Amino acid sequence: MNNNILIKHASQLITCSGFQAKQGKAMSDLHTIEDGAVVIENAMITAVGKSETVLAKIDEAKFESIDANGKAVLPGFVDSHTHFIFGGYRAEEFSWRLRGDTYMAIMNRGGGINNTVQATRIASKKELIESGKKRLDSMLSFGVTTVEGKSGYGLDSETEIKQLEVMKELNHRHPVDIVSTFLGAHAVPKEYKERKDEYIDFMIQKVIPKITDRQLAEFCDIFCEKGVFSVEQSKRLLVQARNAGLKIKIHADEIVQLGGTELAAELGAISADHLLHASESGIKALADTGVVATLLPGTAFGLKEPYARGRYMIDQNCAVALATDFNPGSCFSESIPLVFALATLYMNLSIEEAVTAFTINGAAAIDRADTIGSIDVGKSGDVIILEYPSYQYIPYHIGVSTVEKVIKNGKLVFDKGRSERTHT
Ligand code: NIG
Ligand code: FE
Repeated sequence: MNNNILIKHASQLITCSGFQAKQGKAMSDLHTIEDGAVVIENAMITAVGKSETVLAKIDEAKFESIDANGKAVLPGFVDSHTHFIFGGYRAEEFSWRLRGDTYMAIMNRGGGINNTVQATRIASKKELIESGKKRLDSMLSFGVTTVEGKSGYGLDSETEIKQLEVMKELNHRHPVDIVSTFLGAHAVPKEYKERKDEYIDFMIQKVIPKITDRQLAEFCDIFCEKGVFSVEQSKRLLVQARNAGLKIKIHADEIVQLGGTELAAELGAISADHLLHASESGIKALADTGVVATLLPGTAFGLKEPYARGRYMIDQNCAVALATDFNPGSCFSESIPLVFALATLYMNLSIEEAVTAFTINGAAAIDRADTIGSIDVGKSGDVIILEYPSYQYIPYHIGVSTVEKVIKNGKLVFDKGRSERTHT
């Protein structure tokens, strides 16, 4: 199989054309081509344009040809913030929250992240690979072609590394590309209770060197939050992580306003994530520095918290990305259409902005805007075909996937029509 595909006569070819994050108004332009065609050769996009023009230049017989008449074609979605490798589940915590318990109250009495830590420490690599593969299959069915995944359910050297090794293995085995983030500072493990600074020292001195030596992660992230890690502790860890060669992300201002957003700008992080309580100065700093504001409305929805001010951030010229935050606690959902619905209905993003946020800006949030996130010549052949003629159906079909086919690196890996995944 030479992975040469031609997609022709797309009602709308939504290219999202660009090679860097789009800020503010630029997020509204999807660079749409009517009756569009895209050619993928050897896993890479080699031609994009009007069907007539593209077809005139190639020998169609040399391609596996897909007629996308009546369908919209977009870049594969990039889910730039997830915690998808974990053991166990926390369904009971969801029911406690319905009763009025808060996320942080559950965490402070030993549940929450530490609950998943216990289950992940005892899970075998094989179990984590199996559950991870199923979750990737589901993401793929939603049109996700690249996902970021975080460690952070080990909080010890062995299990953090185990999670990252599982992601590396899955990256080889599964068509969805995985970008790995080390999130050892996701919570304070019980072994380090009341000794947060020592835990940060342990991460810096003992864990990060092992991870960078084996190139197990590309990013370092931290839960910068009241009662978890302070701005000062976050800065100390992230500066050292950067010195060791990792790029930076921050869980910032999720539950209360602490200043993680400003820290992300100060350190030149690739993204600042959550931002439910980001300050005015923090938002301005993101816009000025081009740090991607990654918003996770599924989490605000699941925790019944106020949504991040997505509309305002775009109006202030930020580059906004959307992601699921898929994890076993605050948001057990990998649903892309749910996030689209929430972002448009409750954060007042336009549908165009939401599409940009899940494609080229999602790619920018994991420092991949030069290779994925748009349908441009030279980029990876990651393309999705919808069942409907327009991208407007994505949030309109509330909570239901409109994705019919997924092409990853020029290979058809999901086809709803055949109601099966084709990569296995
Ligand atoms: O992004 N807030 C911290 N981390 C995750 C939740 C992880 C969990 O509850 O297991 C988040 O919301
Ligand atoms: Fe998260």
